[in-house]
Amino acid sequence: MKAVVTGGAGFIGSHLAEELLRQGNEVAIIDNLVSGSPGDAPKKAEFAKKDIVRDDLSNEMEGAGAVFHFAADPDVRSSATGSEATFNNNVVGTFRVLEACRKAGVKRFVLASTSAVYGDASVIPTPETYPCMPISNYGASKLACEAYASSYAHTYGIKSTVLRFANVFGPRSNHGVMFDFYQKLKRDPKKLEILGNGKQEKSYFYVSDCVSATMSAFRGQKAAFEAYNAGTRDKHTADEIARLVGSEMGLSPEFTYTGGDRGWAGDVRLMLLDCSKLEKTGWSAKIGFEQGMKLYVDWLRSR
Ligand SMILES: NC(=O)c1ccc[n+]([C@@H]2O[C@H](COP(=O)([O-])OP(=O)(O)OC[C@H]3O[C@@H](n4cnc5c(N)ncnc54)[C@H](O)[C@@H]3O)[C@@H](O)[C@H]2O)c1
Repeated sequence: MKAVVTGGAGFIGSHLAEELLRQGNEVAIIDNLVSGSPGDAPKKAEFAKKDIVRDDLSNEMEGAGAVFHFAADPDVRSSATGSEATFNNNVVGTFRVLEACRKAGVKRFVLASTSAVYGDASVIPTPETYPCMPISNYGASKLACEAYASSYAHTYGIKSTVLRFANVFGPRSNHGVMFDFYQKLKRDPKKLEILGNGKQEKSYFYVSDCVSATMSAFRGQKAAFEAYNAGTRDKHTADEIARLVGSEMGLSPEFTYTGGDRGWAGDVRLMLLDCSKLEKTGWSAKIGFEQGMKLYVDWLRSR
């Protein structure tokens, strides 16, 4: 099969593109390199430096059996100040990718969505049936993308799979709480500023598990449209992550807090997903939190 990966020079998309190649697929990557790096896109993939919001994507879509749409602005925090950019990149971008699929006759679409679509859920772990009430522009934009994926599945027969990921971490990630703590501790090994009160508690999973979750949902889905949660069964506080990153770096810094029970506008205080629907497709997470954290910090150190 020919698979198109948008955002394939980014963190998750590059790992997914490698796995698709490993499984014998032909891969075409579309990425504007706004945050991705050309060196991270696998060499065996075709690469088009294009912007999903404005460029013609028809060449890349031609003959594709599936499109894995991972290009987005993934930042919750900047979606509060740059709301229009988030809307354009995520909603308009997804709409244009779906339109390109429709015009090229692509019959399978996979969307990288997020736990942020639920907002402050009161049911923990949160199942897919929980009402989506995002509290960030990022979460709202992804929910709109999901709605278009559902609409295109039912209107044009593009079978669509939505993955609502918990926080993902691992080599090539250049954003998120672990990355942030590592960079801060490199600058000042004695002190670490934690956004909020350190008690925000969320689920994190390793990038190889995120890739296998995507492939398992893609293969296991029967209906025209499905949304699957993907994450682990455990959650970790910002304080706990700060201690672990510090200890992996051989440091025991003093923590300071910016205060409040959220790190930033739109930050969810508590997130843990019920992944039983995805597990029924045969998927389970393989890398434990501390093991993954060690691998990630080793990678950060080696750069
Ligand atoms: N990392 C996480 O914890 C996480 C959690 C939930 C969902 N997601 C979703 O997974 C996907 C991948 O996230 P990531 O963490 O790998 O982010 P990333 O920033 O590393 O990757 C995104 C890639 O998309 C590209 N891109 C962005 N806008 C583009 C545009 N307009 N045209 C073409 N390319 C564009 C970037 O250059 C980058 O290579 C995103 O859709 C994100 O919302 C990520």
